[in-house]
Amino acid sequence: MKYGIDWLSMCKNFDADQVEIMSQETDQQPLSLIQYTHTKVTRTTPDILRQRRTIMGLKNDPHIDIFRQLRTKVLKKLRENKWNSLAITSASADAGKSFLTANLAIALAMEVNQTVLVVDADLRNPNVGWYFGLDIEKGLLDYLNEDIPLSSILINPGFQRLVILPGKGFTTHSSELLSSPKMVTLVNELKYKYDSRIILFDTPPLLASDDTLLFMPNFDAALLIVEDGKTTAQDIRRSLQILEETELMGIVLNKSRERMGDAYYAAYSQPVAEPVDV
Ligand SMILES: Nc1ncnc2c1ncn2[C@@H]1O[C@H](COP(=O)(O)OP(=O)(O)OP(=O)(O)O)[C@@H](O)[C@H]1O
Ligand SMILES: [Mg+2]
Repeated sequence: MKYGIDWLSMCKNFDADQVEIMSQETDQQPLSLIQYTHTKVTRTTPDILRQRRTIMGLKNDPHIDIFRQLRTKVLKKLRENKWNSLAITSASADAGKSFLTANLAIALAMEVNQTVLVVDADLRNPNVGWYFGLDIEKGLLDYLNEDIPLSSILINPGFQRLVILPGKGFTTHSSELLSSPKMVTLVNELKYKYDSRIILFDTPPLLASDDTLLFMPNFDAALLIVEDGKTTAQDIRRSLQILEETELMGIVLNKSRERMGDAYYAAYSQPVAEPVDV
């Protein structure tokens, strides 16, 4: 595999009681500040963002530093390598891909001049929109199956410089659709039309189907999400095999039960030459 990995990040487990005490305000912008001529703009409530753990959308939340640090590392890698597209992957379901995609996307879009597009490329279980409380009429699946303009499905979730290409519905033909000529044309257009924009792809679990494997030529690098206590060494080994031809930007240990004290900062400050010992 191509060893792009030189760091490991950790995202703590946000238990319900911790989420309860989070800030009441959102970091969404007044609509008047956002000029999206063709893109639908929606806003959600702080309660929804809080309940769904969209922490980066809450002002002054004590946990946002986790995503700020991740953003810094991701931006550095993207810029160093002149990459603009990143897939968020995991071995199995529920590791937190969509949670991390949503929070990282807001964190990246908070950078001045940095525009971000999130593509929900999980055609089996699309749920990025849920993290933003979006009311989705049509999604990527509709775009691939019907003759509708892309602009009709894009949504700005109330954060400046952030646009979501949401998913809706379910298909059993997801691998075929993700590698279809229409999808390839779409991704090329998205990537090259605005090359300074970062595109985050939320993808299906690596071990559940060959969707991500087939979709790989469309992204520059991947971030592997590992779920603390759930993802096994065997899962990680198999995921790394699947990602052999991919630039693996790093691994994020999600839902970490470790106290966010010394170990957390140690994990950030000490680059690891190899991925976790698998
Ligand atoms: N750090 C965290 N702390 C607590 N709960 C979390 C954390 N990350 C994710 N979760 C929760 O775990 C569940 C699964 O997260 P999510 O939907 O993001 O996973 P996923 O990898 O996208 O799953 P799928 O493969 O089914 O799309 C959600 O209820 C989410 O809110
Ligand atoms: Mg998901």
